[in-house]
Amino acid sequence: MKNILITGASRGLGLEFVNQYLRKGERIFACNRNPEKYSELKELKSEYQDKLTLINLDVTNQKSRNEAFEEISKITNQIDILINNAGIRFGGEKYCDELGKLEKEDFGKIYQVNTVAPLMIVEKFLPLLKAGNDTKIINISSSSGCITRRTSKRGGYSYASSKAALNMVTKALSVDLEEYNITVISLHPGWVKTTMELTVNAPLVPEESVTGMINLIANLRIKETGKFFDWQGNEMPW
Ligand SMILES: NC(=O)c1ccc[n+]([C@@H]2O[C@H](COP(=O)([O-])OP(=O)(O)OC[C@H]3O[C@@H](n4cnc5c(N)ncnc54)[C@H](OP(=O)(O)O)[C@@H]3O)[C@@H](O)[C@H]2O)c1
Repeated sequence: MKNILITGASRGLGLEFVNQYLRKGERIFACNRNPEKYSELKELKSEYQDKLTLINLDVTNQKSRNEAFEEISKITNQIDILINNAGIRFGGEKYCDELGKLEKEDFGKIYQVNTVAPLMIVEKFLPLLKAGNDTKIINISSSSGCITRRTSKRGGYSYASSKAALNMVTKALSVDLEEYNITVISLHPGWVKTTMELTVNAPLVPEESVTGMINLIANLRIKETGKFFDWQGNEMPW
């Protein structure tokens, strides 16, 4: 049984990771901002009393990260898989992510969640990650952060650059943590219908994307550390 910590577990891909890993018999720490608010997580908790722990965590808040660490440390001294999944696409109410509309405050908010927080979570949980079994750190990135494939006009300056910067965080962590046998990758989930992508055009539903990502994670080895994959296991260019 693996100990798996998932951020942004309230809905979308994070919730689906919780669902599928619980069905596989793993022990899950499902981090979310308001455990009282999300009926799906509460329903899962009543079904999987022993295997599921709900943890209150705003990934951008240091106090919240410290408290989450204290709570989890009381239950286990090891994390085998960390899924840095929490993410946002917009910094404010309206879309301001293209030339002529940019809001620098939105940039800051998006970077705090998508780029800075995943690194700070790794730093905070490092003792538990070092104690894990074949530990894997999965940074949920995006094809939007792929510099090589940026060939068409599509805005998304802050979101895309926050994910490109996350990819550098992945690479840097992979180098620093290889000596502890910790595998670190960036993972693009595909274009998936979630609250973030409420469009009929998104071809995937969370079940398909997460099934693909879980297969990939299960087969990851340390020789793949520092790489960028998509949900089907294809390596992506940076
Ligand atoms: N859907 C896609 O097509 C797609 C494509 C490429 C990459 N991604 C990436 O996949 C990941 C999951 O996205 P999704 O599609 O599942 O989006 P989603 O349905 O909007 O879910 C986002 C999750 O992140 C959480 N979150 C946001 N800010 C947070 C904070 N400060 N602290 C803690 N949790 C926070 C949300 O919690 P609350 O419920 O509390 O707001 C929610 O659980 C993101 O990193 C996203 O960039 C998605």
